[in-house]
Amino acid sequence: MAISKKMNEFATSSSWIRRMFEEGAKLKKELRVAAEEILMTCGAAGALNVVLKSILNPDEEVIILAPFFVEYKFYIDNHGGRSVVVPTRDDFNLDLEAISASITAKTKAVIINSPNNPTGQIYPAADLQKLGEVLSGCQEKYGSAIFLLSDEPYRKIIYDDHQVPAVFRSYRNSIIVSSYSKDLSLPGERIGYIAVHPDIIEKTGLLAALTLANRILGFVNAPALMQRVVAELQGVKVDTSVYARRRQIFCDILTGCGLAFTPPKGAFYIFPKTPIADDVQFVAHLQKYKILAVPGRGFGSPGYIRLAFCVDDDVISRSGAAFRQAMETLGEA
Ligand SMILES: Cc1ncc(COP(=O)(O)O)c(C=O)c1O
Repeated sequence: MAISKKMNEFATSSSWIRRMFEEGAKLKKELRVAAEEILMTCGAAGALNVVLKSILNPDEEVIILAPFFVEYKFYIDNHGGRSVVVPTRDDFNLDLEAISASITAKTKAVIINSPNNPTGQIYPAADLQKLGEVLSGCQEKYGSAIFLLSDEPYRKIIYDDHQVPAVFRSYRNSIIVSSYSKDLSLPGERIGYIAVHPDIIEKTGLLAALTLANRILGFVNAPALMQRVVAELQGVKVDTSVYARRRQIFCDILTGCGLAFTPPKGAFYIFPKTPIADDVQFVAHLQKYKILAVPGRGFGSPGYIRLAFCVDDDVISRSGAAFRQAMETLGEA
């Protein structure tokens, strides 16, 4: 080698740093979403309905992952589609083999929701990457377009050092739907958005269909006032340390009384296993102690309940004694 070993090593490591900078700049460029690829909507619910209206032909299938947000089935039905329910794994992560096995020539979309309502699970980047590969493979196999709809209203409500990976990095035919109702704590306000991947299939036609659907479903676009409000609130979110504190109080209570659960990484729900097989019966038993829970079967997962911690600390703390009593008297139920 003509140049000194030392200078060669220096040059190699500095080129690595430069390459990483270049890679970062490339990624930034690839992921930049332009204003015309975003549509303001009447919340995430409006956004999902607009997307489903725009893509579904009668009897086309939409895969949803149990446990799922209860209203997905209704939204899919609204637009003539058929829900295909695929369970997640025991820890509520994606079951990629099961998803792959459920895709048919009629599959038009897969809906994922991360951070998840009701489990609080966040899907890791590696799993999203594999999901993207599964969907790309199936598109090729069936010669069709399969959209990945990522419902992300809880994206900013996350705990510890968890991150929510960007689906746009994993799959080209992906569409994000989201809402401000959770991260600005505006339940009841109808304001959200759709963001389509910059390289999505048939982009011009799809954006035209989304724009029309946003008018003809009856909302006639997102509320003008709230569009102006959220424009001023970009980057702002609720104080998630409040939710983190409530989550800790609740997890301690549930652990203390022997209920099994996967600690939520995001959102404000916990989805414990029921100590008896019948979740409806367990919910009725809890109700005797003034604890309100939702049976897991409503989310497509019997044998679980959903508890919410978007209530005052005091309410959660006081539920401790009630949970203990409910568990002690369970045999008598
Ligand atoms: C997972 C999920 N998706 C969508 C929605 C609907 O959100 P919005 O109130 O913004 O329409 C909710 C609301 O609870 C939700 O939990």
